[in-house]
Amino acid sequence: MDWIAWDDSLDTGHARMDTEHKKLAQLFNRLRDAVDGGEGKAACAEVLDGIIGHAQAHFELEQQMMAQHAYPKAAQHAAEHAMLLRQARDYRDSFDVNTAAARAAAMKFPEVWLAYHILFSDKELAAFLAHARGHQG
Ligand SMILES: [Fe+2]
Ligand SMILES: [Fe+2]
Repeated sequence: MDWIAWDDSLDTGHARMDTEHKKLAQLFNRLRDAVDGGEGKAACAEVLDGIIGHAQAHFELEQQMMAQHAYPKAAQHAAEHAMLLRQARDYRDSFDVNTAAARAAAMKFPEVWLAYHILFSDKELAAFLAHARGHQG
């Protein structure tokens, strides 16, 4: 069962951003499976590396689009990306599949990390881009 159930409230309306966000949600589900399945620390670290790599590429894409369209909140948005990556790396370094606290954090992490940023910052960016381009999507 998917742990991060994608629901329409997370859709930004920007096709490419939404596709990449869904991929991130899948990777978080993969992390949950690895933790729940007792796959061990190395396997979990590998999944976390995948999440970080995908997020980094995704953030770069958003930052390119912000620069291209002179998004007024580009600096603030990029700072959020940098903070999210820093948190993800710290989390990866401290992650221990054997402690209850780490397991609990693995369940909570993407909620804060992924959903919050999408709901507020990415939706605002997508709306700006749709307007800048003069069409939706
Ligand atoms: Fe973003
Ligand atoms: Fe995003």
